[in-house]
Amino acid sequence: MPKKIILDCDPGHDDAVAIMLAIASDDIDLLGITCVGGNATLENTKLNALKICSLLNRKDIPIYAGSDKPLIYDLVTAEHVHGKSGLDTDGEPINLDPSHRIEEMSAIDFIINECKNAEEPIYLCPTGPLTNIALCLQKDPSIKDKIKEIVLMGGAALCLGNITPAAEFNIYVDPHAANVVFNSGIEITMMGLDVTHKVNVNDEIINSIKTNNNKASVFFADLMEFYSRFHRELYETGDCPLHDPCVIAYLIDNEIFKGRKVHVQVEENSDLTRGETVVDWLGVKKLNPNCNVITEADSTRFFKILKKELAKLN
Ligand code: RIB
Ligand code: CA
Repeated sequence: MPKKIILDCDPGHDDAVAIMLAIASDDIDLLGITCVGGNATLENTKLNALKICSLLNRKDIPIYAGSDKPLIYDLVTAEHVHGKSGLDTDGEPINLDPSHRIEEMSAIDFIINECKNAEEPIYLCPTGPLTNIALCLQKDPSIKDKIKEIVLMGGAALCLGNITPAAEFNIYVDPHAANVVFNSGIEITMMGLDVTHKVNVNDEIINSIKTNNNKASVFFADLMEFYSRFHRELYETGDCPLHDPCVIAYLIDNEIFKGRKVHVQVEENSDLTRGETVVDWLGVKKLNPNCNVITEADSTRFFKILKKELAKLN
């Protein structure tokens, strides 16, 4: 049976690939997309989600607006990576289907309602700051029993941060929300920078996927051409980590990934280390493990699945 998921995201180039993978896969039943401020403002992330679904002719997929700012801090965005719109490319502009609009219901109420009404527990898949997920858990803690697992992109165990030396962007933007999630008692799998930096796109992979010769694969290539620029400069390599699709790939074939269940807590206040995921990899504090931290991936197997799934789209 396909896994029922809600994808909570801040599109974002890599979020866009996660959305396409979730839509394409027969193993996933995408109940809806919820947007949060992160890579770009909420105005832009919700517009980008509409654009992506318009491109795929999938206006049947409901899109909801969540929080435009973190629980406590001001929003920090990532135009330096994703451009002003949050989804800049040099390719053809996307014709937005005017009939596909953001749903009236808030993302928070959508997630709560879907959890409460679900016959079987569902998966929450956040690939942006965790504000929406935290707000749901604070508004109605009873939904914990209807969440099978939270598979999130964020954090880092043994790897350097990417927005500060200590912190990964999603967790940095809203560390308070991250601790609400990590302390929730819900089954959590964390796709942090340790693993996403082992799933790298490069020119060879981009060109290979482009040979699918369909709109979605050409869009993938346009996205990656732009998105790679920042990473190639920062990491001085032709490789570029494809963070968010790791969340969806994990639900399609979790054998791609390996990790360890450990205790994770997030620094909320320090100017120096705000947003650091403090991962007790060796269990020295003897605290109850609260998160399956993924650190290894079979990149070849990942991209074989990505290419096959993107080929199924229009
Ligand atoms: O640090 C990478 C993460 O932050 C990704 O989810 C990217 O889309 C941004 O949200
Ligand atoms: Ca993201």
